[in-house]
Amino acid sequence: MSLFDKLEQITAARQTLADKGIKSNVVMEKVLSSTEAIINGRRMILAGTNNYMGLTFDPDCIEAATQAAGKLGTGTTGSRMANGTYSGHVQLERELADFYGCTYGVVFSTGYIANLGMLASLTAPGDVLMIDADSHASIYDGCRLSGAEIIRFRHNDAGDLEKRLKRLGDRAANTLIVVEGIYSMLGDRSPLTEIATVKEKYGAFLLVDEAHSLGVLGDRGRGRAEETGVEDRVDFIVGTFSKSLGAIGGFCVSNHPELDLVRFASRPFMVTASSSPSVIASTRAALHIISTRPELRRKLWDNAHHLYEKLQGLGFQLGPEPSPVVAVRVASIDEAVALWKGLLEYGVYVNLVTPPATPDGGCLLRCSVSAGHSPEQIEQIGNGFALLRETVQEAATA
Ligand SMILES: Cc1ncc(COP(=O)(O)O)c(C=O)c1O
Repeated sequence: MSLFDKLEQITAARQTLADKGIKSNVVMEKVLSSTEAIINGRRMILAGTNNYMGLTFDPDCIEAATQAAGKLGTGTTGSRMANGTYSGHVQLERELADFYGCTYGVVFSTGYIANLGMLASLTAPGDVLMIDADSHASIYDGCRLSGAEIIRFRHNDAGDLEKRLKRLGDRAANTLIVVEGIYSMLGDRSPLTEIATVKEKYGAFLLVDEAHSLGVLGDRGRGRAEETGVEDRVDFIVGTFSKSLGAIGGFCVSNHPELDLVRFASRPFMVTASSSPSVIASTRAALHIISTRPELRRKLWDNAHHLYEKLQGLGFQLGPEPSPVVAVRVASIDEAVALWKGLLEYGVYVNLVTPPATPDGGCLLRCSVSAGHSPEQIEQIGNGFALLRETVQEAATA
């Protein structure tokens, strides 16, 4: 038995992809804008980047980042608990709390770390975490770190959640329910009103991860809780800077004063270096933009509907509802790889997602739409799928 035996499964999975001609990760050789890059020496439309607001090249964000690096240096070289809390971190925490109309806000170094930090400081052995079965890996890892009992309920099924809470008896009131605003793989929204009702009936707590819904949903872009009108029924909102805000980092906001104690209770907050000043500065500029430019959200949704309807019209099997995440279901890994490679040759980059990362064991070509895409780019993405499908089908019947 070797130390490396457990990695054999990964070697085998990589070999399967290598046999089909996918040898390594895609490398962005040059990034030209929020929607275009050079990959394999070719100009591509980026349709798989989570850059929902298209802010990665926004002049205000770049200017803020450049100024901050010039004035404050390239990194903090320390954790939030030691020397890594600058005025910008504190101001961003205040601005995030104000944006959500909450009293407290905490900034973490990534969204992954925010979930680890929140779940592992709010719950401990003896508590119960009740999570949607399709939760992101950072939620699963946070659950493991907490040592609490983990119970999964059926994806987006408030009835199943209730059944499982009822079985817990008195322990239901000490349960933290965790859901996402929009689910990252299929782009479907959580039934948050029903979930909040169940949570209140059993006196439990509710944390919503708005990673894919911040900037995207709600009149002010605050996410699914805003869209469904349940913000005052949600205990904790977690989010990331790595999608709509075009940077890297994570946060939690809440009206519970206990959130502030996370600064002293959460190892993922305390023992990793804090975000660099440039990241904090561009995130603050991006937050200001999503609060003041609702037209970006309208453009994002126009693009999302455009692509969803175009692919639906072409007969592709898609996620359950139009969303900036447009997931194309593909019957087999061979077909998924052929389509993905063909799209790259055509000039469109999307995410290839294979099991176990997919919710139902199938394969997906996951597109994410941006406010930065032009209608012509959306047409071109759709045309790539149309052309490729014919080629793949011809190859399958040859
Ligand atoms: C639902 C969800 N939560 C958290 C994260 C982690 O965010 P980050 O990339 O900032 O670590 C992601 C990232 O894909 C996500 O989809």
